[in-house]
Amino acid sequence: MGKSVLVINGPNLNLLGKREPEIYGRTTLSDIERMCKNCASNLGFELAFMQSNHEGEILDAIHNAVDTHDGIVINAGAFTHTSVALMDALKGVGLPCVEVHLSNTFAREDFRHHSYISPVAIGVICGFGAKSYTLALEALANYFEQQK
Ligand code: DQA
Repeated sequence: MGKSVLVINGPNLNLLGKREPEIYGRTTLSDIERMCKNCASNLGFELAFMQSNHEGEILDAIHNAVDTHDGIVINAGAFTHTSVALMDALKGVGLPCVEVHLSNTFAREDFRHHSYISPVAIGVICGFGAKSYTLALEALANYFEQQK
């Protein structure tokens, strides 16, 4: 059976392409979805892709992922730096999770240096723009391979 991965995008990522292009580039979220779907099909994954500006909706998606997906890639946007609830949800479901960011959060403001997601993720990829997402999918594929 092929693996199924859920890619979760948090607040303001729907604005990609228009939002602070000097930081986030001109790539839109639809472009990233296409890149992820291509990459997933090369890796033999099923892929679901979502974005929400609402913390509760993201929590529900994480809870529901237990029955439908084998792993999670998450760009939690600003919730990365604020949400104990997201950390608890990811820890609670126990699915392998890769944290991604388009920008290198460590090269930015101090408040972006702390992540509530990192302690419950199998790893973190940040700073490679849209490519961070496909690197995260490859990292998950590698993780699944090692679990065999
Ligand atoms: C981000 C980095 C976060 O600090 C920020 O709040 C975002 C986007 C990134 O992908 O670089 O919304 O997660």
